[in-house]
Amino acid sequence: MKGAHVLAAFVLLALSSSFASAFDPSPLQDFCVAINDPKDGVFVNGKFCRDPMLATANDFSFSGLNIPGNTSNKVGSNVTLVNVDKIPGLNTLGISLARIDFAPYGGLNPPHTHPRATEILVVLEGTLYVGFVTSNPNRLITKVLNAGDVFVFPIGLIHFQFNIGQTNAVAISGLSSQNPGVITIANAVFGSNPPINPGVLTKAFQVDKNVVSYLQKQFWVNNH
Ligand SMILES: *[C@@H]1O[C@H](CO)[C@@H](O)[C@H](O)[C@H]1NC(C)=O
Ligand SMILES: *[C@@H]1O[C@H](CO)[C@@H](O)[C@H](O)[C@H]1NC(C)=O
Repeated sequence: MKGAHVLAAFVLLALSSSFASAFDPSPLQDFCVAINDPKDGVFVNGKFCRDPMLATANDFSFSGLNIPGNTSNKVGSNVTLVNVDKIPGLNTLGISLARIDFAPYGGLNPPHTHPRATEILVVLEGTLYVGFVTSNPNRLITKVLNAGDVFVFPIGLIHFQFNIGQTNAVAISGLSSQNPGVITIANAVFGSNPPINPGVLTKAFQVDKNVVSYLQKQFWVNNH
């Protein structure tokens, strides 16, 4: 009888602890197709780990974020991302960093989302009109930021930053993933490879097929 109680207590304990931790790991990539035989598998949700005794300071550092990205492109902005590919020590730590440069008079980090990260941005120089749009129904939340101002872009939501000043603008962002990912909306919709069937886009955007055809012919710069 006593043994049965002890067993029951063990089962309860095991159940409660498994409930308490019954979460999937946060995905660090777009998808991971399950396989039974790991022989030809690729381990991507995080990476293989170096022996901790062999780790050095270089595994945890990066240099060059003082250098502006080149903003001479169609959108007038340039994102220098420092993720786990640049700092191997970030693996499994859930954080990364970016420097964003904006050309004067309208440098734009176009509407995009980070599928795996919330972003917190601080303006170092210049004046940015920033915003994000909530899930449906789509409410726009915007603000004009100057040097020293901080703004948060919640995970997964479409957001943008636009230089409305007459000087260069520079911002630094922290991101809550070692590999935040980025989906630039216009590029994904009109510049995918292969292209999305125009019938899908004319119906979705309620425009003439010439408009879709025009948009699909554009070169969609990736500012990352
Ligand atoms: C961003 O800046 C880097 C460094 O100047 C440059 O190599 C890269 O081509 C730039 N990217 C774009 C899209 O302009
Ligand atoms: C920036 O990129 C443009 C276009 O690719 C190029 O002409 C220019 O020389 C680059 N500027 C610097 C400072 O690298």
